[in-house]
Amino acid sequence: MTSTLPSPAAAQATGAELTYASGFGNEHATEAVPGALPVGRNSPQRAPLGLYAEQHSATAFTEPRAVNRRSWVYRIRPSAAHPPFRRIDTGLLRSAPDTTGITDPNRLRWDPLPLPGQPTDFVDGLYTVGVNGDVRQRAGIGIHLYAADRSMTDRYFVNADGELLIVPQQGALLLHTEYGRLHVAPGEIAVIGRGVRFRVELPDGPARGYVCENYGQPFVLPELGPIGANGLANPRDFLYPVAAYEDREETVRVVQKYAGALWAADYDHSPLDVVAWHGTHSAYKYDTARFNVLGTVSYDHPDPSIYTVLTSPTDTPGQANADFVVFAPRWLVGEDTFRPPWYHRNIMSEFMGLVHGVYDAKAEGFLPGGASLHNMWSAHGPDAETYRKASAAELAPQKIADTLAFMFETRWPITVPDFAHAAVHRQSDYDGVWAGIERGFER
Ligand SMILES: [Fe+2]
Repeated sequence: MTSTLPSPAAAQATGAELTYASGFGNEHATEAVPGALPVGRNSPQRAPLGLYAEQHSATAFTEPRAVNRRSWVYRIRPSAAHPPFRRIDTGLLRSAPDTTGITDPNRLRWDPLPLPGQPTDFVDGLYTVGVNGDVRQRAGIGIHLYAADRSMTDRYFVNADGELLIVPQQGALLLHTEYGRLHVAPGEIAVIGRGVRFRVELPDGPARGYVCENYGQPFVLPELGPIGANGLANPRDFLYPVAAYEDREETVRVVQKYAGALWAADYDHSPLDVVAWHGTHSAYKYDTARFNVLGTVSYDHPDPSIYTVLTSPTDTPGQANADFVVFAPRWLVGEDTFRPPWYHRNIMSEFMGLVHGVYDAKAEGFLPGGASLHNMWSAHGPDAETYRKASAAELAPQKIADTLAFMFETRWPITVPDFAHAAVHRQSDYDGVWAGIERGFER
């Protein structure tokens, strides 16, 4: 009998064999072995199947129920079974505050990070381009690029400093986490909860992308206000891993980011040994193609907050620690309207990346895999060429297709590490895109 099913290896490469649980922030429950999840209690005298019960709390025990995040995991060994961690080199990974970095009022833009010239995995391939806040105060973010060409096989990573929002730009990632596996391709994003251990395989070969390390409150869906009960990113489109464990008794290295430094320990077993779990703290993925883009059907270009996928709130309503915003394919229909983003200055700071295509405010120079930083109050907006075209265009309905740009927006100015500021792939002539803007005023 012939079969049209992909081979197991091919299925793993595309993620086609993976199943997920859906629903943002749900109380998910999953077991890789039937009977591994206790019924009716979290910590029975003896957990099923000889497993150890452990609670993984991402919020304080006493935080309000609406924001509380914790999961119960049932694992082969408790997490406590590990040797001491020792400091290792942090490479090009930085955290806030970065006292040697530059907080620059100028507009900055970078070409894509070159792919590594020597074998490099996801962790070694992290390259910080900006930080703000204070990692020890759980406030602010780190913005990193990654470029990697080697899968993590005997190395695992865990970040105590924040959750990681990963935006692949080139090459899929197969994320093996404590909570199960996620296959994340360009166009999709993943969020790995704070303190969740994982390793990254590269099923498509070399991979490149962006990371927002959120030191602050976990990302949530934005309020919808008068939009109503539906729209933007819909909760059911967020996919969580089902339990999958590694039963591996050999030496592996666990690298931990803790208060800005990297530490490593050699375990005698895989830390991804969770056979069953239930709860709200985990990892998840989202396909930005599912984003329900809303915009004007009359006039004016709405504020880009209408494109917010996820937000990390602060104690000040509306002033996000971080917003993740996508500029996805959409129709522009505004009448008597300058349709690209308008010129502006903003107390918030804006880091942008491009997954593919062309961003509608920049005719050229902003490349897939590249990045721009418009720090607090820096004046920016369309380049001269974009302004000329858009202000003279015939205003027929227009589809912005085949593009995906995104923004990490944050309440505090962003400090750029010295090496990223001096990098050869930073465009020293970026200001030139606003040169040649002609005077139109006549008396
Ligand atoms: Fe902006």
